[in-house]
Amino acid sequence: MNRKKIVLSGLRPTGRVHLGNYWGAIKNWVDLQETYDCRYFIADIHALTTSYSDTSAIRTATLDGVKDLVAAGIDTEKSVLFLQSRVPQHAELALFLGMITPLGWLERVPTYKEQIDQLKEKDLFTYGFLGYPVLQTADIVMYMANFVPVGKDQESHLEIAREIVRRFNGMYGEVFPEPQPLFTPSPKVPGLDGRKMSKSYDNTIALSASAEEVRSGVMSMVTDTNRVRRSDPGNPQVCNLFPFHQLYSSAEEVAVVDSECRTAARGCVDCKKHLIRNMNAALEPIRERRAALDADPKRVVEILEEGSARARALASETMAKVTDAMKLL
Ligand code: TRP
Ligand code: SF4
Repeated sequence: MNRKKIVLSGLRPTGRVHLGNYWGAIKNWVDLQETYDCRYFIADIHALTTSYSDTSAIRTATLDGVKDLVAAGIDTEKSVLFLQSRVPQHAELALFLGMITPLGWLERVPTYKEQIDQLKEKDLFTYGFLGYPVLQTADIVMYMANFVPVGKDQESHLEIAREIVRRFNGMYGEVFPEPQPLFTPSPKVPGLDGRKMSKSYDNTIALSASAEEVRSGVMSMVTDTNRVRRSDPGNPQVCNLFPFHQLYSSAEEVAVVDSECRTAARGCVDCKKHLIRNMNAALEPIRERRAALDADPKRVVEILEEGSARARALASETMAKVTDAMKLL
């Protein structure tokens, strides 16, 4: 039998998934289910590395994460969807891997210093935060993952994971495959204000936004600012709306938008209404699935519990190999 390769990825629980998260990562996760055996999880222990002093948002954000992943199309029959903290082997393996991880490797991860500088209001001089990549390595190798879909921001974490794997395999024998990065499409998704869509800029559209939220969000978008009058020709390349047409309108429609904009045959308000129609049509099924889960909180917890039980079974097989290779009893 030709076993499928294994893909693993985790979502930090930071609240509702927005269209930037969706196009940058989650849509790829959904599509990868066709080709790979996928394990996806909510990285709530990772959330603790930066939010340990105020954990009040984690539970809701975790539930939001699961609901959005399922609404987006993560199929819990095909993929294992679980909660990191409900699979205690992650903590156990992270501790073991920590024994063989040189401090210098961790201090040299670029995101380590960057985050400390960026999140000045938080004290990140903790053992847990320094160990972020060790925990992430445990997440990955726990399921013998072959591929990790990554964005640019996670490349250095995957690199250190590969180094830890090589060191482990070198010391104790070949236990883990070296995880490879899977570079997936990540089309540009600007925020409402034209900067990158990000929660910290408060410029997002939620994946499960209501039709009205989509409408008011698109209406508030900045278009080609050089286009002062309706009769001025526009340039889609500098318009914030155009990337959304490329994601939500057909190729034929995009060509029409492009030419009608450049010849001033369409005005920006009509162009926005056109986009709103297409976005709402595409988002409606996701919105419905999300609403069904909102109405059934028990089901959401059940999804996580079932997935976590499956993950624990896989994890205990790995831990048996690990303790054996390390010659623990
Ligand atoms: N660090 C990842 C992020 O910030 C989340 C994450 C945790 C992860 N463990 C992982 C991603 C394992 C891939 C594989 O998005
Ligand atoms: Fe942007 Fe459409 Fe206006 Fe052109 S017509 S500037 S693409 S909103």
